Amino acid sequence: MNENFQCVYLSEEQIKEKVKEAAVWLDNRFAGKNPLCISVLKGSVMFFCDLVRAMKTPVQIDFMTISSYGSSTQSSGMPKILMDLSESVEGRDVILVEDIIDSGNTLLKLRDLLLGRGAKSFTSVTLLDKPSRRKADIKPDFSCFEIADEFIVGYGLDYDQQYRNLPYIAILKREVYEK
Ligand code: IMP
Ligand code: MG
Repeated sequence: MNENFQCVYLSEEQIKEKVKEAAVWLDNRFAGKNPLCISVLKGSVMFFCDLVRAMKTPVQIDFMTISSYGSSTQSSGMPKILMDLSESVEGRDVILVEDIIDSGNTLLKLRDLLLGRGAKSFTSVTLLDKPSRRKADIKPDFSCFEIADEFIVGYGLDYDQQYRNLPYIAILKREVYEK
């Protein structure tokens, strides 16, 4: 294991199991529909690819790049759209796929934006949720894991753009970012 990690927090197997559960939950909710699944880049990309492949419902996919952190571990409050969707969401059942809900600012902003553009419904799915850090009044509709207030990396999540390609999730040692 990398010396910057405190421990492995979620193994590849644990993640796989939960991704299957999330896919079943979505299949039940969207039976007979054709939702548009949106990956919030870059963090959700691994989860997104595994999730949509585990779903049986026919879906369409699209991508959006949002930046909220820069290279710190604190949300800057106002997430910025760096790359917008290529599909229209008007009249669509939208499934927003996030890596982690922390302050909730990103999720709240994206929900308002997509409903404001005329989405028929908005459903949010996240791999991880840190409810103890919430600032915005919003909850994901489905969360794979609720986690403690630790900074974690891997399976899409980064610290300063590193560690995204790990197949597992690890806790980053505090001394790495509290300098
Ligand atoms: P929010 O707007 O504060 O909810 O921030 C959500 C975004 O912050 C996520 O999509 C991640 O990119 C990032 N983030 C929050 N906590 C962590 C973490 O523990 N590790 C890596 N990225 C994180
Ligand atoms: Mg993110």
